[in-house]
Amino acid sequence: MCGIVGYVGPQPALEVVVDGLARLEYRGYDSAGVAVLDGGTLQTEKRAGKLANLRRALEASPPAADGIGIGHTRWATHGAPNDVNAHPHVDGERRVAVIHNGIIENFAALRVELEERGCKFTSETDTEVAAHLLSTELKDRGDGDLAAAMRAVCRRLEGAFTLVAMYAGDPDLIVAARRNSPLVVGRGDGENFLASDVAAFIAHTRDAVELGQDQVVELRAGDVRVTDYDGAPAPVREYHVDWDASAAEKGGYEYFMLKEIVEQPRALADTLLGRVAADGTLTLDEMRLDGAELREIHKIVIIACGTSYHAGMIAKYAIEHWCRIPCEVEVASEFRYRDPILDRQTLVIAISQSGESMDTLMAVRYAREQRARVLAICNVNGSTIPRESDAVLYTHAGPEVGVAATKTFLTQLAACYLVGLYLAQVRGHKYGDEINAVIGQLAHMPEQVEKVLGTVDPVRALARSLAGADTVLFLGRHVGFPVAMEGALKLKELAYMHAEAFAAGELKHGPIALIEDGLPVVVVVPSREGRGVLHDKIVSNIQEIRARGARTVVIAEEGDEAVRPFADELVEIPAVPTLLQPIVSTVPLQVFACELALAKGNDVDQPRNLAKSVTVE
Ligand code: G6P
Repeated sequence: MCGIVGYVGPQPALEVVVDGLARLEYRGYDSAGVAVLDGGTLQTEKRAGKLANLRRALEASPPAADGIGIGHTRWATHGAPNDVNAHPHVDGERRVAVIHNGIIENFAALRVELEERGCKFTSETDTEVAAHLLSTELKDRGDGDLAAAMRAVCRRLEGAFTLVAMYAGDPDLIVAARRNSPLVVGRGDGENFLASDVAAFIAHTRDAVELGQDQVVELRAGDVRVTDYDGAPAPVREYHVDWDASAAEKGGYEYFMLKEIVEQPRALADTLLGRVAADGTLTLDEMRLDGAELREIHKIVIIACGTSYHAGMIAKYAIEHWCRIPCEVEVASEFRYRDPILDRQTLVIAISQSGESMDTLMAVRYAREQRARVLAICNVNGSTIPRESDAVLYTHAGPEVGVAATKTFLTQLAACYLVGLYLAQVRGHKYGDEINAVIGQLAHMPEQVEKVLGTVDPVRALARSLAGADTVLFLGRHVGFPVAMEGALKLKELAYMHAEAFAAGELKHGPIALIEDGLPVVVVVPSREGRGVLHDKIVSNIQEIRARGARTVVIAEEGDEAVRPFADELVEIPAVPTLLQPIVSTVPLQVFACELALAKGNDVDQPRNLAKSVTVE
């Protein structure tokens, strides 16, 4: 959700900023803009649409001067995604330029106040308020101190924001502030960077500084100074990014998503790596909750959004089965509004790839206010959700750029299984050898996924043949139900098709009325082992829909002869334990959605209307 870049140093600022924006475009791509400041000259350029439009405009009329620069890719909240509403926004005298991620909730009142002072607004955005506020504050102060002005402005703003500003009166300085919205600084040698995500500057430096809540940073070529909103020096965390620029490149693939699907075996293996101690026990290093605390837990609540929510739904089956602790799963945006029952013995597990989803963050804060313990499962080191949680388990998927989650989903599943097994170990619900047996099965999952990836060509062909379909339904039972939901979500996100998932048993209670001749229905069939009864039930469900004309696409274990007669299309996956099956059964659904979207000519990395990290509620 909105990408932000800033650069101060000897390199051509415009080039560094636009390259940085290219790496952040997945965060929002309905418009983009830059501002450069050289001496007292401030120049801006902004364009609706993807970054390519801005690049073309810059090539056609390059700014006369370079110097220091800021840039922005937008995911619109206030005002349509057009040239005028694109960032940066400037004050009336064009002395201050501002870019912004988030929502300024009291912008309407502030706008009225500024208009009364004579400020003329040109856009419909909340951001423009910040540009005028900074400008009036600078005039009132009269000392040209942009950082002090920023602090004063931030104290007046309500909502969530990262704000970045430049001021023609101090042309070597960028000032940024954050509240509930991401911002990292990249420390270089005689140059410094800032961005919403390290990906923007990873080609220049891997030394990062994480900003805390309600902090202001002053960035000069040789200096980084961080203060709180009152001007007192503020503590920051410095860290080294453990992946390099090549990890965030397409590596020969046409789309990041294609690369990220193929990277899944590696991502899974990396997430599982180093979790077992020499004595065979499971050790989760980052788990900052001790055994005594975990033994007290009497309820688990999992909160997440989108794909991460589906990982949470699958986790429920595993955790309840292995640990015998009641486990609820809820979409984060609903959680705090229903007055959930939480206490010190509740463990809240927040699953978020980015660690920045505002819905999940707000749910985490609410849970902590209610004294629940919060464990984050996250892919981005140092992001806000793990920082504000009591404990964290990082997935090690590496950077995921495609907006639709793939490899982070599989690694979230692995992390959830590890948490479930760890709880079972600490609470004594399973013997060590039982836990080791599951860990052994998990250790084989990367090669099983590799196997699936080697056999998905027919899925691609099938997807292309269905590019003209209006609707695709998905059915599953047990852990196959959230997998079906994930398959439907992928198709909606990427192919913009009506796709819906149902628990297969619910079908007869209504949705079966939707079945008509030739309607494609994807069915995720549970393993025959362990949950044999489920398998038999779903075979009956397949027959029911086929009898009504559905075209059945059946995802089933290899050698599952019982389903073969009823499958118009059969997609075979390796036989693995029931609870782990989502790791393999999701993969053909990712490939299916991706290929179908490509057949329709869609951009699978940047689907319309979406953003990878949604930092507004
Ligand atoms: C956005 C993305 C989804 C993602 C969801 C949750 O809506 O488009 O793909 O699943 O956010 O993101 P998170 O980073 O919290 O896992």
